[in-house]
Amino acid sequence: MTHEDFLKIETQFYAYTQPFVDRAEDPYPFVLKREHTVRVCRAMEMLCASLDLDGSKTSRACAAAMVHDMGRFPQFAVFHTYSDARSKNHAAIGCKEIMRSKILSHLSVTDRQLILRAVALHNRPRLSRTYGRDLSLLARLLRDADKIDIFGVMKDHYLNPDSSHGFITHDLPNDGKIPERAAHVLLETRQNDLSYVNTLNNMRVFQAGMVYDLNFPAAAAAILDLEVIPVLLGGIPPSDLIIRLEQALLDHLKSLASSNHGKHGRTLK
Ligand SMILES: [Fe+2]
Repeated sequence: MTHEDFLKIETQFYAYTQPFVDRAEDPYPFVLKREHTVRVCRAMEMLCASLDLDGSKTSRACAAAMVHDMGRFPQFAVFHTYSDARSKNHAAIGCKEIMRSKILSHLSVTDRQLILRAVALHNRPRLSRTYGRDLSLLARLLRDADKIDIFGVMKDHYLNPDSSHGFITHDLPNDGKIPERAAHVLLETRQNDLSYVNTLNNMRVFQAGMVYDLNFPAAAAAILDLEVIPVLLGGIPPSDLIIRLEQALLDHLKSLASSNHGKHGRTLK
């Protein structure tokens, strides 16, 4: 697919999202998601460049970034939350909206299917199965580009908390306790477990733990540059356990950032 194909999707994305902004009593949650989308596209371009992907693969990846959160708009309009657990899976809503809006109708069947499948996979706790080469690359790129911006949004939110923006952290209560179980499990398994996310501090651990799901060195480097892990975990009462967790997460990021893994992208062109 071409860059012009991507530009058409960008135009249609704004046409799709504008009525949600216009109709809302408080447009901020919708504006935030639209801005998130633009930054995920930018992060995607950066990741594709780091892997030396060709123009066609880059356009496809940026198209996936542009449509990946379309489900967020009807989700918030209907349920007034971004919590999938308290509403519906926003990736599944997104796939339906992508098809209904025909935003990808000018693409080849292959591109359309790859993008839809990558969107469906973008919010899974982890990619446990192996997929075909093109889908595997696209799904991993989308998950990393999304996380780069989620880390940025969360850093801003925790540094500048606004009581009217609790929807960003799903309105979870702050019990002021150390999320010991979640931190222990994350340290031991290096895998996030969504079932612990019932308080703000558990969410902080979950968000920090997303670094274990990253795939590409350039994503790890971008998140290290953000210096977000100390911000996420800094809101939890201090303890040896949280210090150990912070060190483990930073070590993981440094190791991925300096690894050769991205070079595999060259064989995936
Ligand atoms: Fe999403």
